[in-house]
Amino acid sequence: MAVGIFDSGLGGLTVLDAVAERLPDVPLVYFGDSAHAPYGVRDADDIFNLTTAAVERLWAEGCNLVILACNTASAAALRRMQESWIPSDKRVLGVFVPLIEALTERQWGDNSPPREVAVKHVALFATPATVSSRAFQRELAFRAIGVDVEAQACGGVVDAIEDGDMILADALVRSHVDALKRKMPAPEAAILGCTHYPLMQPVFQEALGADVNVYSQANLVAESLADYLERHPNMLGSGTRSCFLTTGDPARVSTRATQFLRRKIEFEAA
Ligand code: DGL
Repeated sequence: MAVGIFDSGLGGLTVLDAVAERLPDVPLVYFGDSAHAPYGVRDADDIFNLTTAAVERLWAEGCNLVILACNTASAAALRRMQESWIPSDKRVLGVFVPLIEALTERQWGDNSPPREVAVKHVALFATPATVSSRAFQRELAFRAIGVDVEAQACGGVVDAIEDGDMILADALVRSHVDALKRKMPAPEAAILGCTHYPLMQPVFQEALGADVNVYSQANLVAESLADYLERHPNMLGSGTRSCFLTTGDPARVSTRATQFLRRKIEFEAA
């Protein structure tokens, strides 16, 4: 009855942690494609090919349901996967929709027409590929009207986090927030549209100011997954073991993951 959680690297661990806390009895198989991170500077075909290879590996672990805990893959590949690639007995879900539902104060799965919402000025921080896909704006337009979104492509942040260079990551986040503020001086809300960024959430919050409501995905995705599994218990696959798979060097990736989550994490080769 395992669920698969995929990311290009370590960022999806922020989602895994929240899911493990919310659904402690569900075995989780994590796949981090660290050998190919970052995805955010790749083109859509490349992201599709890498993401589908990873999802197939998770299916082989008995995970019929896979969460793409990667906004870049959700933005650049998920639609194409859902339209033509995923067999009918499997599901692949992205991380965008729970976040947009929270921002637009909707219940999960509420598909009523778009309406005015309280928040009007939203800053989006994401990878270059996510920003250029405009997937966030597309999903938002299905649910809300009159929301001004200013997107900032945060080049370099994922690489710095994957390398464990938190000083560089800190400096890059501050400069991306400055660049955003030059375009939108007073956002009311900010979206951390990359699952690596919660690891830098205090820096985003400090640079944006205490009055900006910062949304990140981990808890929202965990809640919506719990809701989904209640409605679709048959989507729990046959897998019984929890494990961490990586395409990178397992020892190096385990060290970084242990640092980030502050508990022992041991990756094995995918
Ligand atoms: N955590 C991925 C995301 O949410 C990072 C993508 C990348 O590898 O650039 O977008």
